[in-house]
Amino acid sequence: MQRTQVGIIGSGPSGLLLSQLLERAGIESVVLERRSRDYVLGRVRAGVIEQGVVAILREAGVAARLDREGLVHHGVEIAVGEQRQRIDFASHTASLVVYGQTELTKDLMEARAASSAPLFEVEDVVVEGIEGTRPRLRYRHLGTEHALDCDFIAGCDGFHGVSRKAIPANVLKTHERVYPFGWLGVLADAPPVSPELVYARHERGFALCSMRSATRSRCYVQCALDADLAKWSDARFWDELRARLPTALAAGLQDAPSLEKSIAPLRSFVAEPLRHGRLFLAGDAAHIVPPTGAKGLNLAVRDVHQLAQAFVAHYSERRDHLLDGYSATALRRIWRAERFSAWLTSVLHRFPGQTSFDRGMQLAELDQLVNSAAARAAFVEAYTGSQP
Ligand code: FAD
Ligand code: DHB
Repeated sequence: MQRTQVGIIGSGPSGLLLSQLLERAGIESVVLERRSRDYVLGRVRAGVIEQGVVAILREAGVAARLDREGLVHHGVEIAVGEQRQRIDFASHTASLVVYGQTELTKDLMEARAASSAPLFEVEDVVVEGIEGTRPRLRYRHLGTEHALDCDFIAGCDGFHGVSRKAIPANVLKTHERVYPFGWLGVLADAPPVSPELVYARHERGFALCSMRSATRSRCYVQCALDADLAKWSDARFWDELRARLPTALAAGLQDAPSLEKSIAPLRSFVAEPLRHGRLFLAGDAAHIVPPTGAKGLNLAVRDVHQLAQAFVAHYSERRDHLLDGYSATALRRIWRAERFSAWLTSVLHRFPGQTSFDRGMQLAELDQLVNSAAARAAFVEAYTGSQP
């Protein structure tokens, strides 16, 4: 029988960072991951990190490369048809750092490998006894059955994980909106069309030009939910992106072979409560935001930071007020990010069956956003995560 203080399911950014923060506070943990290390490192996902989240990563001792290589942005562009408008963060003393989730995961994995690396390729993780004082994780690794006794379990296993399902159905409430489209994303060695991100609303659908470096672009176009990746050649992707961008930007867009191409469905989802007995949910296991606004990774980091502080209070001060307050405090922050992400999604995408009134509302929302100082200030607060 093995024992640890906090058993963590999942080695995405939430699980890895929680384990790292706990170690720095002298709290033991074991991370169980279903996939291989290479699979986890190969996933291309988010790329925009809030300044407050950078501070958490520094506190965790994993921000040295991010501080060297991350691209600091002081503004973002919103394009509506041919109209382009820059929203400046600097006047609100806010900024964002563009640094790929893949790179952050690599940095976290390296930090963990130096002390206690996750256990990869574990199968059939089962959560037991969360309503008692000795919760347990059972799993199979290399064909052998194992049991891990824990003080607490952290469910950091993403939307499709097992931890959320361990909360009894009569306790767990879920709130969900599924969007009738997806995002087709391409990573390519082509210089970004603009030094800052461009979010574009176009009659053909939403487009986003992001980046990973001065020579690597990460771009997305809104696509049908049932889009077939095989039918999206690189040439078709770049042509479609070009068609959705203002002419001046489209002219600077260089075709380049895709290094990665994938489709992500869009969903808003919140589970509550985030704690049941000795099980705590964090990151995508607890909530999903549509990617518009880049909140998913930022929320995950803030969840585990809050959770780590709660465990520290439990072990160092023998106080459980932060563990008891985790769900309510996190949910308030989560719902605010849900609101922002759902709103930005609703004004920038083309919805099937959209009426001319719906279109007018979208354009009026965007007009308000770019032309009202108050609306811009509220956007900057939410987008950069600098709201009080
Ligand atoms: P995850 O990164 O999902 O990690 C969960 C881990 O748990 C995984 O490694 C998984 O293999 C493991 N796991 C699952 N089940 C089990 C099990 N039973 N046993 C053991 N391990 C298990 N956010 C943005 O801001 N912008 C984006 O562009 C963006 N694009 C995305 C594209 C996709 C396809 C997805 C899925 C997400 C995207 N996100 C994006 C969201 C962002 O990547 C997530 O919010 C972030 O990864 C959350 O981290 P996490 O550690 O909570 O979950
Ligand atoms: C990226 C992803 C997003 O969802 C977003 O809103 C901005 C940037 C990215 O992958 O770079």
